[in-house]
Amino acid sequence: MEGPRSPAESEWPSVLKFLNQSLRSNADWSISAEYPTALSTTNLHNMRIITDQEQVISHAVLKPLIIKSPHVIFKVGAIGSVVTNEMHRNQGLSTKIIEDCLSQATKQQCDIAILWTDLYDFYRRLGFELAGSEVSVVVEEEFQAPDPTLKLSKDPKVAAQAIHRLYSTHTVNSVRTVEETRKFLSIPQTQIYTAWDSSGQLAAYAVEGKGVDLGGYIHEWGGSVSGLLTLLSFIRREKQKPVTIIIPLHAKNLIERLREKPVTYNQGYLGMIKILNFDQLAAKIKRAFRAEGIADIVLEKQGDKYFFGCNGDLAVLEGDSNLTHLLFGPIDLPALEVFKPETVEKLTKILPLNLWVWGWDSI
Ligand SMILES: CC(C)(COP(=O)(O)OP(=O)(O)OC[C@H]1O[C@@H](n2cnc3c(N)ncnc32)[C@H](O)[C@@H]1OP(=O)(O)O)[C@@H](O)C(=O)NCCC(=O)NCCS
Repeated sequence: MEGPRSPAESEWPSVLKFLNQSLRSNADWSISAEYPTALSTTNLHNMRIITDQEQVISHAVLKPLIIKSPHVIFKVGAIGSVVTNEMHRNQGLSTKIIEDCLSQATKQQCDIAILWTDLYDFYRRLGFELAGSEVSVVVEEEFQAPDPTLKLSKDPKVAAQAIHRLYSTHTVNSVRTVEETRKFLSIPQTQIYTAWDSSGQLAAYAVEGKGVDLGGYIHEWGGSVSGLLTLLSFIRREKQKPVTIIIPLHAKNLIERLREKPVTYNQGYLGMIKILNFDQLAAKIKRAFRAEGIADIVLEKQGDKYFFGCNGDLAVLEGDSNLTHLLFGPIDLPALEVFKPETVEKLTKILPLNLWVWGWDSI
């Protein structure tokens, strides 16, 4: 057995064949079409494989993302396409491969790693914890469009430039090029909906589905709140069945306006998160507090314990999972009754951190 190691360029076809056979046996497209930036020859150095007699038997990929938020610029290592050949499972191969991806992410200065799975216990053993927040809102019925002047369309031929321009207005987003947006737009099993104003400018967009995943889910969207609501009402009508939009918790205005409509509201986790570079992340967070005029912030690690709070009002946290929840949520700081009200007021200026990963970036 050989690896974990990154595949040579000449091995790329056999890596893809392994992934398609193991993870996309019923699809009539290649998995690389679903993750065009992660599963691409330009990201070979971040793929990890184990081979046996020149056959790929285990794989995972790391995709580093730069995610900008109002307070912090995160470097996030997304991990995906984790799979081991059926004949070689339960021998620790995926564990080894993921550990190698994590050490690669740490070397590349990622603050955290993130992944999406339902194998919670498997990943908890590797130090991941369900964290961050995601709101999903099911639009149960069609409602009155707030802006009837918009022209609504399902035409898949949309200029990547126009989408990119609205995407760039999000307060939290990953750094993407127009070319990457173009690639994402051609992911199979994707439906794009757009709303255009009278001067021909894109007012809102919404993207539903992504390969075998996220059918019925709008996972990428952008534009004005009234444009989006108008688009959602149109999508509900077009689909003739309920549709779900996934929203970051910090998009308060959109959430509030949607909750006035016939919808079902759910709050869940963003994903499974593991902190990789505590010192680097703590320095970024302390800088964010100082920029808000809070100079007495304490966030230190001593042994296995974390000391956190504002000068004189400190909590001691044991274990990484408590720290992950404290920083990324979900957490209700006032309800914790750990800190004095004046400390809570300071802490909630930054926490929980507004981390968000848009659907096209999830792998
Ligand atoms: C999930 C999956 C990737 C795990 O791969 P794997 O190579 O079997 O993983 P590991 O061997 O490292 O760990 C699997 C189990 O074996 C155990 N194990 C680890 N090392 C072991 C060893 N040396 N000897 C025996 N068992 C071992 C682990 O504790 C783990 O136990 P758990 O199932 O209770 O969590 C594999 O089952 C798979 O490919 N599934 C289909 C695709 C999939 O679901 N991918 C996950 C997407 S997030």
